[in-house]
Formats: sequence, C-alpha cells, structure tokens
Amino acid sequence: MAKINQNYNKLPKTYLFSEIARRAKTFSEKNPEVELLKLGIGNTTLPLTPSVLEALHRGVDKLADVKTYTGYGDEQGNTSLRKAVAAWYSKRGIELEPTEVFISDGAKPDSANITSIFADNSVIAITDPVYPVYQDSNIVAGKKVVLMDCTKENGFIPHVPKEKVDVIFLCSPNNPTGAVATKAQLKTFVDYAIENKAVIVFDAAYSEYISDPELPRSIYEIENANKCAVEIQSLSKMAGFTGVRIGWTIVPKDLVIEGTEPGEVNALWNRRQTTMFNGASNIVQEGAIAVLSEQGQKESRELINYYMANAKIIKEAMEDLGLKVFGGENAPYIWVKTPSDLSSWDFFDKLLNECHVISTPGAGFGSKGEGYIRLSAFGQRENIEKAVKSIKKNLKI
Ligand code: MLT
Repeated sequence: MAKINQNYNKLPKTYLFSEIARRAKTFSEKNPEVELLKLGIGNTTLPLTPSVLEALHRGVDKLADVKTYTGYGDEQGNTSLRKAVAAWYSKRGIELEPTEVFISDGAKPDSANITSIFADNSVIAITDPVYPVYQDSNIVAGKKVVLMDCTKENGFIPHVPKEKVDVIFLCSPNNPTGAVATKAQLKTFVDYAIENKAVIVFDAAYSEYISDPELPRSIYEIENANKCAVEIQSLSKMAGFTGVRIGWTIVPKDLVIEGTEPGEVNALWNRRQTTMFNGASNIVQEGAIAVLSEQGQKESRELINYYMANAKIIKEAMEDLGLKVFGGENAPYIWVKTPSDLSSWDFFDKLLNECHVISTPGAGFGSKGEGYIRLSAFGQRENIEKAVKSIKKNLKI
C-alpha cells in the first residue's frame, strides 16, 4: 500500500505566502470595495526591459524556423549562457569555468533540490528567521535541521554553529531581514566550513540590491569559498524574471566533501540535473544572455534603483511612525519591529484591517521572526505611496 512521506506532516499546514494570499482573499470577499495595497510577497511588478524583450522575441522566432529550431537543450544550460554567466562573474574578479555553472529554472527549486546530493544523516544549519524553502525542503528530505539565531543583537547575521554541522544555508542580502553579511562575517563561515568539511549553500538572489561597494555580492569574494561553497543565483529579482523563470547554481570543481575528490561534487550535481531536469526554456535562455550583457545590466540597474527608491520611501515612513526598522538599504526588504510587542500576525491583521496593507508576518519565517513584519519594496511606486500614506493615516498605535 502506498504511504505518504510522513515528513510532510512536520511542515506548517500551508506555505507562508499561500496563507497570506488566503487571508487577503477572505478580506477582499468581505470588503469587495476596498483596494488592497501589497507589500507582502517579493513579487516584481515592473515590465521586462527592452533588450531582454528583444532577445526573448528572437528566441521565439528561432523556434518558428526549421533551420534555427531547437528541441531539448543541454540539461545544464546552453554553453553560450554558461559562458555569459562565467564572464559576468569574471567582471567582478571571480574566475569560474562555464562547466561549473548549471542553469536552472530559478533559485527556489535549486535551493530545495540541492539537499538531494547530501547524505540522509546530514545535519543542516539554517537561520531563524529563514526563507521557508530551505527549512521545509530539508524537513521533507528527513534531514536534521539546526537553527542559527538572527536577532537584532547580532544584526540579524548569525554566528557560525556551535555544534558540528554538514551543510549551512546562508542568504545575503537576506530574505526576510534585509541584513547583508560583511566579508569578515562570511569569512567566519568559510573558515568553519573548511575546518569542519561542511558545505555552504549561498543564496545570492538579491546580490544586485547591494550598493555599498564594501559588501560582498558573491560568496566567492571570500578566499577558499570555492573549496566549500555552492552559490545559487536567479534573474527573478535582478531582472524581473519572477514569472519568466531562470537562475543558476555554481558548483565549483574545487569543492570537496567527505570522501570526494575535486570535481566529484560538480559531477554529482551534473548527474542530478541530467536525470531530473530537462534544461531551462530555450527562449528564456536567450533572454538571460541579454540580461547579462552590458546593456542588459544597465537596464536591470534601473529596475533595481526603482525598487530601492521604494524601499527608501517605506523605510522612512516606518521610521516617521517611530517604529524600529532594519534592512531596506542594500536589500529590497524592510524588517519592522511590531509596536507595543504585538505578535507578527496581530500586526499583520492590524495593517490589513486598519490600513488595507498586506505585509508578511515575521513569525512565518521562524520563531525568531516573531514580533516583526517584513515589507517588500517590489510594488509600483503609486501603490507604495498609497500604502505608506494609508499606514501613516490609519494605523492606530
Ligand atoms: C518572498 O517574498 O520571500 C519571495 O518572493 C519568495 C520567493 O522568491 O520565492
């Protein structure tokens, strides 16, 4: 008789953003005349940029002609895109071989799938609060998960685990807190990983929101990270590809884990991808090459600047209200302490009912997120302005 994977019973009943969507829907059904102002999920709202659109159209046109039509591509991604990714890193002083780049359909699936290459009895360290995917995917896989606390006392950047762990998930700039790890902080993790033969899974999906030149945008800016870290990246937040879907994972050939020689972990991920993934869309890969071009990067910068101007508006408005605010400077998320020690969900409900604003309750990211909410800067300016105006006018604190 078939039985379900009982580990699913250990997860919260619904995914955080599904629960928020459910509450918003219930509110709208009861109040159909009210316009809800969305500062919840980090979902991009600006259209794709001209050079990217042109490339995507070109990708479609190629499929219309027998001479340029392609079916399945390489599971690891087209060589031209893998080379473009390596060149993009090279411009920031990081040398990679194209065969260390694995094109994917985004950071979320890769950050969940990566756990399959680690032994069942691996101990996985994640932060608290955390992007729920790292936690849930490891719980489903039956791995032991330990938490690294992120609090205002440590600036929401965790200390290395006290116990011995095998895999460490880090996300910087951080979702949800908006904190960014310095090079010195990342170095403590690289040193820990080298010493304990652990692997860091570094989610850099928000790297392009960093404007401070001192802050690292890739784990590979840290010496020896190529021996102990996998990096996951995405064009979702960099170029508005949330619905288009593409990203990549870097598995350096120098990366070794217990019992492996250089190149073997890279080969293992290659084996995983060739078996369980059929490659990213060929149309989208054309678009991705355009994003990584000089013109594409210039255009992406405009999108990012727009969202970061939103972040400034939100952050300043919350500060004007006397709330304690974190993040929002090198990251598109603003992490706000709830007033009067309200719980995250109570403050979420208050913002919804009094101001018609959707936020994300910090408690949904873990117990250390309790007492905070996250506001996202990915809206359109008009909506952001309406939301902060409504909060300033209607919030009763
Ligand atoms: C978020 O709001 O945390 C993100 O948009 C979710 C995601 O990137 O999957």
